[in-house]
Amino acid sequence: MNLLQFCEKKKNNEKLTILTCYEFTTAKLLAKEELDALLVGDSLAMVYHGFESTLSATVDMMAQHTAAVKRGAPDSLIISDMPFLSYRKGLAPAMEAAGLLMQQGATAVKLEGSRGNLELIEHMVDSGIPVMGHLGLTPQSYNVLGGNRVQGRDPEVAKKIKDQASDLEKAGCFSLVLECVPQDLAKEITAELTIPVIGIGAGNSCDGQVLVLPDMLGMLPDFSPRFVRRFTQGAQWVSQAVKEYINQVKAGDFPNEKESFQ
Ligand code: KIV
Repeated sequence: MNLLQFCEKKKNNEKLTILTCYEFTTAKLLAKEELDALLVGDSLAMVYHGFESTLSATVDMMAQHTAAVKRGAPDSLIISDMPFLSYRKGLAPAMEAAGLLMQQGATAVKLEGSRGNLELIEHMVDSGIPVMGHLGLTPQSYNVLGGNRVQGRDPEVAKKIKDQASDLEKAGCFSLVLECVPQDLAKEITAELTIPVIGIGAGNSCDGQVLVLPDMLGMLPDFSPRFVRRFTQGAQWVSQAVKEYINQVKAGDFPNEKESFQ
């Protein structure tokens, strides 16, 4: 899968599927599936490192995880998040951060918001760095937004998101993530843009969907936002396997003869 094929899918009315991926073993597993891209999301700060928000992700963290995912999924389209503030301190540091992510194996980078980013996005694209936009709920701004809540219910905010989506397309973004916006707004934006719109908590009219892998695997039973569907009960199967391991070790059943060296 390359970016042209990714974008073609919108024209062909084929839904795009993306999942987050943060490390080698999972990347190897996901690479075998027909996903269109793997997102090394800055959500890794929360679900992988246990921080409270994505604000704790750093460029070094993103680079290390991108490299691990690339080693596990060398042929996949890998999109890496530019972490908090890494693209807001001026052109040179932003290009350095994006360049590092690309050198570690990203095919493209994703950054949040539009205002103040358009010139940078143009420069990145002109420099060979494909950029995915991210609007609606932008978790790096959750302090400004007053929490992780649906964006665009208010008509003024909805208009702003629509305008920003169009600005991002004009600046050269190859795709756009819309997070936690009303489905009608997502539908309008998806129809207006020629680039693929990927939804998370944005209804099913988008050109594709993205989910955070531990969420859709049911690994975090205490976290169940409305827009997440658990496609399996991961926490339960981990618990069952670990219980079984403990029981078998205690009963003297593991390791057996075949699992031991003579
Ligand atoms: O960091 C992330 O996982 C993301 C998705 C929620 C789109 O940006």
